[in-house]
Amino acid sequence: QDVKLIRNFCIIAHIDHGKSTLADRLIEMTGSLTDREMSAQVLDNMDIERERGITIKAQTASMQYKAKDGNIYLLNLIDTPGHVDFSYEVSRSLAACEGALLVVDAAQGVEAQTVANVYLAVENDLEIIPVINKVDLPSADPERVMLQIEDELGIDASDAVPCSAKTGIGIEDILEAIVARIPAPADDNDKPLQALIFDSWFDSYLGAVSLIRVMAGTIRKNQRMQMMSTGKNFEVLQVCQLTPKPLETKQLSSGMVGIVSGSIKSVSETRVGDTITDPKNPAKAPLGGFQKAKQMVFGGIFPIDASEYQNLKDSLEKLQLNDASLTTEPESSQALGLGFRVGFLGLLHMDIIQERLEREYGLELIFTAPTVVYRVGLKDGTEHKIENPSKLPDPTTIEYIEEPYVAITIHTPEEFIGGILKILQEKRGIQKDMEYTTSNRVKISYELPMNEMIFDFHDKLKSISRGYASMDYEVIDYRQGDLVKVDTLVNGDKVDALALICHRVQAPFRGRSLCKKLKEILPRQMFQIALQAAIGGKIIARESISAMRKDVTAKCYGGDISRKRKLLEKQKEGKKRMKQIGNVEIPQKAFLAILKID
Ligand code: GTP
Repeated sequence: QDVKLIRNFCIIAHIDHGKSTLADRLIEMTGSLTDREMSAQVLDNMDIERERGITIKAQTASMQYKAKDGNIYLLNLIDTPGHVDFSYEVSRSLAACEGALLVVDAAQGVEAQTVANVYLAVENDLEIIPVINKVDLPSADPERVMLQIEDELGIDASDAVPCSAKTGIGIEDILEAIVARIPAPADDNDKPLQALIFDSWFDSYLGAVSLIRVMAGTIRKNQRMQMMSTGKNFEVLQVCQLTPKPLETKQLSSGMVGIVSGSIKSVSETRVGDTITDPKNPAKAPLGGFQKAKQMVFGGIFPIDASEYQNLKDSLEKLQLNDASLTTEPESSQALGLGFRVGFLGLLHMDIIQERLEREYGLELIFTAPTVVYRVGLKDGTEHKIENPSKLPDPTTIEYIEEPYVAITIHTPEEFIGGILKILQEKRGIQKDMEYTTSNRVKISYELPMNEMIFDFHDKLKSISRGYASMDYEVIDYRQGDLVKVDTLVNGDKVDALALICHRVQAPFRGRSLCKKLKEILPRQMFQIALQAAIGGKIIARESISAMRKDVTAKCYGGDISRKRKLLEKQKEGKKRMKQIGNVEIPQKAFLAILKID
């Protein structure tokens, strides 16, 4: 393959601006797939993704395009995930490209989420081609959107391409623009092999598959390949291009994109960001930017029915085959029995895993509220990592507690600054910087305890800015804080799964709100339930739920037995997602109530 005829690009777009539709159209125009093979949306192939409308795992398609200059080009479309939890994956996908299509809806204009990815693309030196989509809509206003792109993103939009991914207008212009404006990859075919892994997944036939961009050299079927971060070697059993269907080929040369496999058992051996080289003629150094996945939040996962423990274990193992960023450790809770403490990249990652466990594996589970990892120094000089609030040692033995801090960057239209600064202050934030990036957009930089971000920060930011503010964060360090554990007692019994760690100043407030929230959530019983929040031995809040006679069949006058049975069935259904603690039943919602207090 002639490097000069390769173009590697991705699509940056706000949700719903038409990224998937455009990708489908490009693939269709270049004839990579027949209609029958093309499902409605080829690029988003996971159920959950489709429902959430988020592309989670990057996927890719290689296309052949005969341009007006008579040459046949190899166009590699590299799909990028679209959420902060996966910003590392995004950055690796961008590192595999030389250019990006910036798709903006001709009616909606530039929206917040686009901005962060545009900055990433600019930082990666990508050639950006603005594309104004949906020009077929009556409300389309391409001129206004062009000005907005220049104004808010600082990108020259004078040669933006108007198009409709729906009707096909302008698609050829986009293909021509890709060929003409995006640079070809560097010609490094003579150098030792360096291939960037920018995605990997588990395939039941091929094992762990790596999606790669060859940056230098050539990778061939049957050669050995070496993962530079671990030094481990594997035989290359298969080399494919994606059309997006895998199409076997003998080799991928410098500048090309495709997948390689080599009977690798788990994706933990094929880490995103790692460099593959040839052990016989190794590259001197790996490509820059490799990072190991960092689990930022931890939560407990317990089966409702204890006999499902083994199923849960097996299901988590299966998920891990495909997700190197998921960690698990067995955990036992007095309240919830045997389960696992699971580490996630962030809250969205957690949601996705929880949903998959329930949906794909049919498990009925209780999830406890997520928490960050604390470092706790004891008076005896030892230091411990605490991923579970209930495991915090006795306060009298503690010398210090440190919590993770994040540097957070928020991009927002200026009218929302006031509201955003207010929540940042409430969340113990420290202002670092604030600057106008365009005439009416502001970049706010703050440092914030990560713990505070877990408490519905993202939701609040979105609602205050009506969805226009976007955020990005990274963990910077650990700092000492005056932190305490708040225990929750139900009828005098500590419920370990309801413990939380927070700043001492906030403890009384959090304790009170949690008790109130639990009072709303817990079903009444035949006896009174006392709810208490305590720090150490000191009760800081209390509520009680009065007794009630709960006889659903009382409503059924007469002896209609089938009706009675129906009601009892119904009651049983309602019970499913509850956990018996002492003699009180606690529903799933209660364990996440901690996150919803304000
Ligand atoms: P996510 O996958 O959620 O990030 O969205 P996306 O950016 O991939 O958008 P998608 O392609 O799913 O398109 C969103 C909606 O816009 C769909 O209902 C499309 O049918 C519609 N759409 C996409 N392109 C066009 C277009 O050119 N014109 C019109 N009228 N509608 C379009």
